[in-house]
Amino acid sequence: MKSSESPTLALYPGTFDPITNGHLDIINRALNLFDRVIVTLATNSGKKPLFSLEERIDMIRQCFPDQEERLEIDCASGLLVEYARNKGASAIIRGLRAVSDFDYEFQLALINRKLARDVETIFLMPGFRWIYISSSIIKEAASHKGDVSDLVPAHVNRALIAKFQQ
Ligand code: COA
Repeated sequence: MKSSESPTLALYPGTFDPITNGHLDIINRALNLFDRVIVTLATNSGKKPLFSLEERIDMIRQCFPDQEERLEIDCASGLLVEYARNKGASAIIRGLRAVSDFDYEFQLALINRKLARDVETIFLMPGFRWIYISSSIIKEAASHKGDVSDLVPAHVNRALIAKFQQ
């Protein structure tokens, strides 16, 4: 956590396809706890993203025009804990929304702990308004022309509309 001695660093990994207001909520909470946060686009082998890596990075970057010193956006290939070690991160942040997240998150946290005991997983709860959203449910709604404008930043909403017009 934040200290006056050595700066603390946490990773916030995910697919971010695309970033949502729920992710932004977690990033802001993490920035209250850690000196620096790296939003890390990592590969989930079970997912085939709608947006390219470059598009996803660009959408995240546009959310934080003024916070460059404390917030980095990067991508990691391979094991996340190896990336965490190379960066000197002490924690991996994950958002926990509902009980249904728990099984998967529990497994992920424990395999990461087995692989690297020096990297802790920290779960943060997003604000109640974002408890039910996920990138998939937002893409599903947007693909049927549903209005998701209050669930994602404005530029992400525009990108979704453009993607589904193609
Ligand atoms: N608000 C909104 N949505 C949220 C959220 C929040 N606060 N917190 C989580 N979610 C959603 C995401 O949008 C995502 O939704 P989707 O499934 O519809 O896309 C889902 O919850 C969780 O996905 P995400 O946070 O993107 O993570 P992930 O499960 O896709 O990614 C990795 C997991 C990438 C971190 C993991 O696979 C990984 O570490 N990969 C690297 C290889 C590795 O080290 N594996 C682990 C050891 S074997």
